[in-house]
Amino acid sequence: MPVVFELNGEERSTARPPLTPLVDVLRDEFFLTGAKPVCREGICGACTVMLDGQPVMSCLVPVQAVEGRAVETAESLAAGGEPSPLQQIMLDHDVVQCGMCFPGMMVTLTDFLANCPGPSREEIKQALTGNICRCTGYERLIDAALALAHRD
Ligand code: FES
Ligand code: FES
Repeated sequence: MPVVFELNGEERSTARPPLTPLVDVLRDEFFLTGAKPVCREGICGACTVMLDGQPVMSCLVPVQAVEGRAVETAESLAAGGEPSPLQQIMLDHDVVQCGMCFPGMMVTLTDFLANCPGPSREEIKQALTGNICRCTGYERLIDAALALAHRD
């Protein structure tokens, strides 16, 4: 039986084996390569996507678990091809290094800032504890997120 679900606002289906990790279906079948299968152990956060409005590690989600549910990937953040305010401020602050962690970071931070207006530096750091950046570019990233969160 195919798994039918909503992907970035559109109904999609996949016939991949039910235990296939969602990150692989997103990348291999739908060519949404923002989510990265880096550790495949739920540690790094590079594969973060939204599932029914909650951030999840898509390497740990078997595709059968998304039947009838809504998945949003980092690609959905740039509506109409325009960067979101968070993406734009990251560009303005020249934050991105290799970019491997970045789509997951943006999914996590977008969700966090929507639910925690005006956060402190410490709260942003806490929000990112599940997203590892191997380039260790945390400070500029947090500076940029703070600037957006406290922009008038
Ligand atoms: S690849 Fe999923 S948490 Fe690292
Ligand atoms: S920018 Fe390279 S891993 Fe984060």
